[in-house]
Amino acid sequence: MKLYVIVPLCALFTLTQQAPSSDKCTCELTNSAKAFPHDKLSTVEDNASKCNSNITPQKTLELESLLLGLERRLPQLQEDVSMLEREDDGELYAVLSLYVIENELLEIKQLIDRLNSSTLGHQRLTSEATKQLEDLSAEMQELETYDTMKVVKGQQDNHRLQSDLDQCRKKLHPTIQSTQPPQGNCPHGQLQNITGPRVYTAGEYPGSYKYGAWGRDPKPEAGKENWYWLVMMTSGNKYSNYVRLYSSLSALIVGVSIPGNVQIDSSNPTTNTIQGPNVVLYGEALYYNCYNQDAVCRFNLTSKTVNTLQLPKGTRFNSKGNFCHLDECYPFTDLDLATDESGVWVIYTTTQDFGNLVLSKVEEGEPLTLSQTWHTSVYKQGVTNTFMACGVLYATRYINKDVEEIFYSFDTTTGVERFNIGILINKMSPNIYALNYSPVDQMLHAYCDSYMVSYKVLFS
Ligand SMILES: *[C@@H]1O[C@H](CO)[C@@H](O)[C@H](O)[C@H]1NC(C)=O
Ligand SMILES: *[C@@H]1O[C@H](CO)[C@@H](O)[C@H](O)[C@H]1NC(C)=O
Ligand SMILES: *[C@@H]1O[C@H](CO)[C@@H](O)[C@H](O)[C@H]1NC(C)=O
Ligand SMILES: *[C@@H]1O[C@H](CO)[C@@H](O)[C@H](O)[C@H]1NC(C)=O
Repeated sequence: MKLYVIVPLCALFTLTQQAPSSDKCTCELTNSAKAFPHDKLSTVEDNASKCNSNITPQKTLELESLLLGLERRLPQLQEDVSMLEREDDGELYAVLSLYVIENELLEIKQLIDRLNSSTLGHQRLTSEATKQLEDLSAEMQELETYDTMKVVKGQQDNHRLQSDLDQCRKKLHPTIQSTQPPQGNCPHGQLQNITGPRVYTAGEYPGSYKYGAWGRDPKPEAGKENWYWLVMMTSGNKYSNYVRLYSSLSALIVGVSIPGNVQIDSSNPTTNTIQGPNVVLYGEALYYNCYNQDAVCRFNLTSKTVNTLQLPKGTRFNSKGNFCHLDECYPFTDLDLATDESGVWVIYTTTQDFGNLVLSKVEEGEPLTLSQTWHTSVYKQGVTNTFMACGVLYATRYINKDVEEIFYSFDTTTGVERFNIGILINKMSPNIYALNYSPVDQMLHAYCDSYMVSYKVLFS
């Protein structure tokens, strides 16, 4: 091999040696075509990418979230107003209701102001972008005249032919519906897909707390059916000592917390405060990983008391059994609390399970107990989060900063495990620190790098 290389090199050397050093040989190239304006192309490219980065899916979602908030808010107001009319007897109750309605109106006004300002922003953006696109398209048409060899035109034709061919193929082979065994014990059928986001909001403290969780109590007290809760890791991204409540989705979006905080303890962290983001509210009680313990805590929001449930010996805690992806483990995610149609669950891992996920059903009584436990064969460090729906455990993994995949399920009814779920979740931020299913409205609530995001779960 080496020999072949050496020979031509020698030849070249001799050639150069032989060339007369005084004479210079010049070649004249006459190009009848205009020089290609590379500068222009590169500004067009720059302008196009600027245009792209100005228009993001986040922008439209913000508007949609606000509209959804308003849509949910108006019927509530109507109901309260009609209640006021019924109560209109000049007594104290009417005064109280009036006060409630005043607050609601204030909240709706804030929502409308936010809508107004985002709408104005969007209009400006749209007209600017339209102008830019028109300019870009004119520039590109002009640049195309340099394509004397008709390369671009040929490529466009090829592209068209290819897509015609694809369509033709699709018609010949209609997609075969996969037949999967029924899963779980669900009134809605089998989990099929996740769409959305439906809600995407920075809430009351934009960007302040990276870790947290939010959602809806599936078993609320009468009158609190529309409430939402929020728990943020306010101390060192690890601990929290209160639950913040909102009387509606729109209140959460505009950041008006009328009931305010319900505090577990005044110091943070301390015995029984919250450790890690994967918490849930169920039946007016918060379930979470107790500070510095391998135990589930239940904080009763009414009586302000805490019950503890010791998990089996060997349970990993204090950030030793976390959810992870290749680049990062999510600190203090040892215990993941979850809700579904049947109540509360805890997902964790133990030393004797070699780091694989373990799932237990939490029974609500007093004292708190675990009823049944399932051992899975999925390694927790390959999982970014889990949630329960209809008695089936689902696990997600990180694909890239825009996509998370529900890849795994474990059916507690049949004991069947599947590693080929393949449902994708469109992310708005790279990391989902908390993920929980709300059986009330079949929404998936995610807390991602300080944003609150929700998705619709579709069942067959
Ligand atoms: C690129 O954008 C700038 C500023 O928006 C504009 O002045 C310029 O004409 C644009 N150039 C092209 C080639 O579209
Ligand atoms: C929307 O905002 C603009 C500019 O701030 C203001 O002039 C207009 O009155 C607002 N409209 C509503 C309905 O609040
Ligand atoms: C799930 O939803 C996404 C987008 O909403 C869609 O692109 C995809 O085809 C759906 N998948 C199935 C299996 O229905
Ligand atoms: C919380 O405390 C109240 C008042 O003591 C009690 O009625 C309720 O059952 C408790 N809730 C839970 C979930 O233990």
